[in-house]
Amino acid sequence: MKTTAKTIEYMRSKTDVVPEIAIILGSGLGDLGDKIEADAIIPYEELDGFPRSTVSGHAGRFVIGSLEGKSVIAMQGRFHFYEGYPMSDVVLPVQVMADLGAKTLIVSNAAGGVNTDFSPGDLMLIDDHINHMHSHPLIGPNDDAIGPRFPDMSSAYDRAYKQLAKQEAEKLGLQMKEGVYAGTTGPTYETPAEVRMFRTLGADAVGMSTVPEVIVAVHRNMRVLGISCISNAAAGILDQPLSHEEVIETTNEVKGNFLTLVRAIVRSL
Ligand code: HPA
Repeated sequence: MKTTAKTIEYMRSKTDVVPEIAIILGSGLGDLGDKIEADAIIPYEELDGFPRSTVSGHAGRFVIGSLEGKSVIAMQGRFHFYEGYPMSDVVLPVQVMADLGAKTLIVSNAAGGVNTDFSPGDLMLIDDHINHMHSHPLIGPNDDAIGPRFPDMSSAYDRAYKQLAKQEAEKLGLQMKEGVYAGTTGPTYETPAEVRMFRTLGADAVGMSTVPEVIVAVHRNMRVLGISCISNAAAGILDQPLSHEEVIETTNEVKGNFLTLVRAIVRSL
């Protein structure tokens, strides 16, 4: 793991807030960060050793403050493996948020619906994941002071949190799907054959993020809640091409529901 001591020292010089909850905002979902009563906003570029976000729709900064009475740190923009960063960089912000004291990770993403019962605009509670990135963020020496060499992934997505998210969605009258997220490298969207493969493997949604961050959060003993915004039917399900514009457009339409749900969850955590 890259040392984050200098980064932590810098961030602590900017704010006294000790965040309980870390939130990663996926493509098109960054607006939630603007609802935080911010004590500090720290662009990644101010942080020593931090990579830069290169995808449009990702702002690239930490927002630290209060949301629904809880102290939070949110990432507006994340680092993807397909951008060419090593896994250690992809997960660096999670290491930093854990070092700052966060015990909970709420992670979100835009994902293609592999399950044919899903429609664009659906929210999916992540029940479990499949690491299909052919890489792993914990490969290398293990720091036993931080987490175990062989972390248990049998309940990576916290059971009580899943229950709570379902209850909050129901109270809000929001329909929420539930399923398995498969993480791929991208940057291509899948071929129809790959989408059939993922379905056969038991995936309900597919995307290019989240899995490395969740693995590191579990290693750090954080409790994780994951929500996918189904931005499109995965390749081959409908007779139409996929585009990043469609992904952003759909997440823009659904972000109101996403925002309301996450706020309700944060309030009741
Ligand atoms: N595939 C992979 N990643 C994605 C998709 C998809 O269909 N939609 C949004 N992110």
